Amino acid sequence: MIRLNINGSDREIEVDPETPLLWTLREDLGLTGTKYGCGIAQCGACTVHIDGVATRSCVLPVSAIEPGQKIVTIEGLSADGSHPVQQAWLELDVPQCGYCQSGMIMAAAGLLSQIPNPTDDDINTEITNICRCGTYNRVRAAIKLAAQDNGTQRG
Ligand code: FES
Ligand code: FES
Repeated sequence: MIRLNINGSDREIEVDPETPLLWTLREDLGLTGTKYGCGIAQCGACTVHIDGVATRSCVLPVSAIEPGQKIVTIEGLSADGSHPVQQAWLELDVPQCGYCQSGMIMAAAGLLSQIPNPTDDDINTEITNICRCGTYNRVRAAIKLAAQDNGTQRG
């Protein structure tokens, strides 16, 4: 039995400790917003936050999560889609097919929590998620818009 704090709730799950977090989220907890792309930490489709840090969950065994660490998935980023990154994504119509986008959003939110006003170089370095539809330009624009909105909210 493993206890995980996910989206603010403690959950106890009977799972093989070597199971990647991605599969525990999707199959044991029904949190299917986090996607499977490559399974080898290359594409970013499986990105979640662990203690606020964007993390690829497809290669992280559940046993590697320390007691008390807080996991946030796309379902828990905000209660109602009001996170500045989600709002910027809506405003700029970022997704195309959408498959990579929850990972993109989680990566972007993680970046902005570490670097509130990222430069192009920061975005190039930190957002290495792969999008087969090529939404990269809109992702970049939406990250910058979310950074501005964040600044406005901070006032
Ligand atoms: S599925 Fe995890 S990085 Fe591709
Ligand atoms: S929007 Fe289709 S893979 Fe990114």
